[in-house]
Amino acid sequence: MAKRVFIFDTTLRDGEQVPGCQLNTEEKIRVAKALEELGVDVIEAGFPISSPGDFNSVVEISKAVKEPIVCALTRAKEMDIDSAAEALKYAKRKRIHTGIGSSDMHIQYKLRTTREKVIEQGVAAVKYARKFVDDVEFFCEDAGRADVVFLAQMVEAVIAAGATVVNIPDTTGYTLPWQFGERIKFLMDNVKNVDKAIISAHCHNDLGLATANAIAALANGARQVECTINGIGERAGNTSLEEVAMIIKSHPSLGLETGINTKKLVPTSDLVSSLMRMPVQANKAIVGKNAFAHSSGIHQDGFLKHRENYEIIDPSDVGADASSIVLTARSGRAALSHRLTTIGYQLSKEQLDLVYKKFLDMADQRKQIEDADLKELMAPYC
Ligand code: KIV
Ligand code: ZN
Repeated sequence: MAKRVFIFDTTLRDGEQVPGCQLNTEEKIRVAKALEELGVDVIEAGFPISSPGDFNSVVEISKAVKEPIVCALTRAKEMDIDSAAEALKYAKRKRIHTGIGSSDMHIQYKLRTTREKVIEQGVAAVKYARKFVDDVEFFCEDAGRADVVFLAQMVEAVIAAGATVVNIPDTTGYTLPWQFGERIKFLMDNVKNVDKAIISAHCHNDLGLATANAIAALANGARQVECTINGIGERAGNTSLEEVAMIIKSHPSLGLETGINTKKLVPTSDLVSSLMRMPVQANKAIVGKNAFAHSSGIHQDGFLKHRENYEIIDPSDVGADASSIVLTARSGRAALSHRLTTIGYQLSKEQLDLVYKKFLDMADQRKQIEDADLKELMAPYC
């Protein structure tokens, strides 16, 4: 039986930190409701102590959604945890997400403390948060660069203190997939009572590896992935939700499943992109404008013979428009003939050869040939 992977969406926290992507409370509620319909398990709604606006958004999102767990971020400080607990007051299902740096880099140069004190502070934060909620997630910031033996001690200590989920972030997006996978495996093999908590992967995309690292984590025992719609987030972004959902769906051999309704992926992507004023790159996997567009002659010919020659996902499975054949100077006769037939022209082979030459001349001048251009091309023959 497939093992369930929990999808923890942080579009409204890590994603919303992106300059220019800030949303007001009403917009955040729209996104939270869309995430609920999409089927995410956890919505990280904000960092309540960071501003009154963020606090208020966590309150309102807590009131607005029923199914997903609503989560609020804190540092490992009582004042942050008090604020998160208060903001989550109305949530039907709630989680406090607290944590602290775990790499020597963060311990020495950011926190200016010692490994022992960091564990002490983390344990105290988990115990304090458990006074307010039953579900406490602990993040070991910069775990991708932490000494793995120390990381295991930290994970063990916070599980013993009552953490229900332990987040292993590759905060700087530094690790390679097999390194991140080995890191998770080391924790699964060496942390006492690791099965009492869910191990979570939170990967950043500085080297373009956020999704690959998250999948490597899942293959080695992690059961929660932290991700954002369209992969938005600090710097180069976070693991992209739509990629994780479709990798898991497209590869049953992984033995995993999510609760995501994949047909809502493109509509949710469109909503987030427009509200955050953050365009999605055309070649973005799953949700980009070109994700199901075929433009070269060889691909178009193969696609027209059998869709799966060049498509591994049915666009309707992700809520995208039907696949398209884009006519350019790289297109062949097969694509041209297909489009002409679709818009009502029947040509003999000789006619097609003639029209194809004119089509190439036109396509060399214009980037893309639309139906109106084809009608212009066909006018002398009608
Ligand atoms: O990237 C990171 O380490 C984070 C933590 C706050 C979870 O976003
Ligand atoms: Zn992050």
